[in-house]
Amino acid sequence: MQNRHLRVLLWILIVELAASSEVGDKFIFNGFTGANLSLDGAASITQNGLLRLTRDVKQEMGHAFFPKRLPFRQSPEGNIFSFSTTFVFAILSEYSHLSGHGITFFISPTMNFSKATASQYFGLFNLENNGNTSNHIVAVELDTIQNTELHDIDDNHVGIDINGLMSNINASRHASYFDSLTGKFNNLSLISGDPMQVWVDYEGGKMQMNVTLSPFKEAKPEKPLLSLVVNLSSILRDSMYIGFSSSTGSVLTSHYVLGWSFKMNGMAEALDLSSLPSLPKVNFKDRPRYLATWLTVAASVALLIIVAVAIFMVKRRIKFAELVEDWELQYGPQRFSYKTLFNATKGFKDKELLGIGGFGRVYKGVLPKCNTEVAVKRVSHETRQGMKEFIAEIVSLGRLRHRNLVQLLGYCRRKRELLLIYDYMPNGSLDKFLHCQDKPALNWAQRFHIIKGVASGLDYLHEGWEQVVIHRDIKANNVLLDSELNGRLGDFGLARLYDHGTDPQTTHIVGTMGYLSPELTRTGRATTLTDVFAFGIFLLEVACGRRPIEPKSQANNQIILVDWVVENWQRGTILDTIDPRLKEYIANEVELVLKLGLLCSHPFPASRPSMRQVVQYLNGDAPLPQIPLAHLNFSFLAMQQNEGFDEYVSSYPISSTTYSRSGDDQSALIVEVF
Ligand SMILES: *[C@@H]1O[C@H](CO)[C@@H](O)[C@H](O)[C@H]1NC(C)=O
Ligand SMILES: *[C@@H]1O[C@H](CO)[C@@H](O)[C@H](O)[C@H]1NC(C)=O
Ligand SMILES: *[C@@H]1O[C@H](CO)[C@@H](O)[C@H](O)[C@H]1NC(C)=O
Ligand SMILES: *[C@@H]1O[C@H](CO)[C@@H](O)[C@H](O)[C@H]1NC(C)=O
Ligand SMILES: *[C@@H]1O[C@H](CO)[C@@H](O)[C@H](O)[C@H]1NC(C)=O
Ligand SMILES: *[C@@H]1O[C@H](CO)[C@@H](O)[C@H](O)[C@H]1NC(C)=O
Ligand SMILES: *[C@@H]1O[C@H](CO)[C@@H](O)[C@H](O)[C@H]1NC(C)=O
Repeated sequence: MQNRHLRVLLWILIVELAASSEVGDKFIFNGFTGANLSLDGAASITQNGLLRLTRDVKQEMGHAFFPKRLPFRQSPEGNIFSFSTTFVFAILSEYSHLSGHGITFFISPTMNFSKATASQYFGLFNLENNGNTSNHIVAVELDTIQNTELHDIDDNHVGIDINGLMSNINASRHASYFDSLTGKFNNLSLISGDPMQVWVDYEGGKMQMNVTLSPFKEAKPEKPLLSLVVNLSSILRDSMYIGFSSSTGSVLTSHYVLGWSFKMNGMAEALDLSSLPSLPKVNFKDRPRYLATWLTVAASVALLIIVAVAIFMVKRRIKFAELVEDWELQYGPQRFSYKTLFNATKGFKDKELLGIGGFGRVYKGVLPKCNTEVAVKRVSHETRQGMKEFIAEIVSLGRLRHRNLVQLLGYCRRKRELLLIYDYMPNGSLDKFLHCQDKPALNWAQRFHIIKGVASGLDYLHEGWEQVVIHRDIKANNVLLDSELNGRLGDFGLARLYDHGTDPQTTHIVGTMGYLSPELTRTGRATTLTDVFAFGIFLLEVACGRRPIEPKSQANNQIILVDWVVENWQRGTILDTIDPRLKEYIANEVELVLKLGLLCSHPFPASRPSMRQVVQYLNGDAPLPQIPLAHLNFSFLAMQQNEGFDEYVSSYPISSTTYSRSGDDQSALIVEVF
């Protein structure tokens, strides 16, 4: 009884002693910065706290020991203590698929491994002492090379080594980890360059050693990779060093340990994985192959992108391509970029289309910078010849400033296209007000105001400027109304475009049927008096609300407005020709306008007044003279003047579509006479 009591006391004492021996026999390194380790060979601690066992040198080895011996059992007769350790390692090779040779965690009686060799012996053994029981070494190997003489199972295995590296089939396994979700072991590549964690647990009572592997930052798998029952009592000495060893062979490999935790008689404290030092970048030597592939792919992608961008740029360039020549540089301020115009008109959208005419399409636009509304006229032209003179003229016309002229703001030149930018006229063309029933009829005061304005504008073109500008296409359609219903002449000078560089076989007569004076159709030469003629027709058009030539309608014959007015005048019923939509009017003014219209559109140029005179008549500053030869039919006179006139009219029958355009297209009809 007493004896038994004593035994119990003794047992308690032993347990307490064993417990006391734990003190100091645990440590943790979350990174090795400042760690007191004994290093030899190639081993070093890097700047950022990695334990680097080998450098990039072939056939080298390195060791790192915890610097003091740890007692592994209470007494020479006692059992080996339980212990547990965990560490994170990584193997970085110069090649992605080749490495050498691996890392071991070991327990050894000595720190003197001067006789050990590198390569497959891991710096722990050599050819002679490998497997010799006098070694007293227990190791866990992370082996990346298959050495058949050591019966390695493969080149990517974990093994438990007792006194040597001869693999025990029961203590060696392909690197993998247990996945509790699938209940299977997933393979791992030790040389992937990725960090992995290892746990080595020895249970003294069961004499069972478990080795567990897992990918970095994954919880310790439920099942160990290796579980070996081994009686370490005869293998380990009472106190032992613990540490890591590593060796390289013919492949340059860096073996790293990132963190390490150990505990005697208990579970090692978990590593703080997030605070472990980071690994250097892997630069596989065989990457060039991969790199090359990668580069090829990258280059292809880059090339595709470049091509796409180039196509886009080229398309964009084509889209926004302009013609600019040296001589144009002086016109900088007048020159607009096509892109600006493109954006201003929302890409020349149909919605922005103001009208279509002989000169081309007219779009409404808003200049982005100044928020100014503009009309952009796209004039197509085939010829480059004479363009320089024409642009010079256009630009100089842009300098014309008159309240009854539509201001030309600038131009842009493209291949086969000229774009002209004008002030936007919110009320469109007078033509619409005269001939479209959907527009409100203008009263007489408004019409008279417009007439006076246009006369003033044309006078300015003819006489008010340093050079005579012939409009060439006076008509209601070319009179635009601003927000205050002032009449403004548009398109002046534009007709000149068709004078330049044309086929000498072809004479272009620019103007609009019904407004062409007899001598213009005969000679093709425009003068201020051909403008006056057209202005006369315009006066009749405004007062009568009829087109110069009404197409064949109820009556079989075309009605030539001027003849009709002449007839009425001769009959003394000139006021009968007035626009029926005009309810109130001042008879004197109407009569003045109608008679002035006849005077201006007189077949004989010499009988026509100048625009200066026209302005005076309209303002009442001078009395209207008698209309000469007024008893004769104007068309007949025209025939006398020009035998071709009637023939001209009949051989160029004018359909309503060609001349009675109702849109405010600010355009002209171009008649070609061969
Ligand atoms: C490292 O540890 C050893 C053994 O415990 C001790 O002798 C030595 O002084 C320590 N060195 C440093 C720098 O702490
Ligand atoms: C290591 O051991 C060898 C013999 O095995 C011996 O010659 C050498 O001096 C020892 N080195 C140290 C530092 O103890
Ligand atoms: C084991 O090593 C000891 C001491 O180094 C030596 O005496 C012995 O011969 C070796 N045994 C074998 C089988 O090599
Ligand atoms: C492996 O273990 C089995 C049973 O656990 C045993 O029978 C066998 O001998 C062992 N093999 C080796 C090489 O130790
Ligand atoms: C794991 O590796 C072993 C040995 O190379 C192989 O036999 C096995 O098929 C692999 N398992 C998977 C899931 O790839
Ligand atoms: C070792 O693994 C076995 C089997 O999974 C388990 O029963 C045992 O508790 C483990 N021992 C230690 C110390 O982890
Ligand atoms: C373990 O080995 C030691 C020394 O060889 C021996 O005394 C002990 O009985 C062994 N233990 C078991 C459980 O086999």
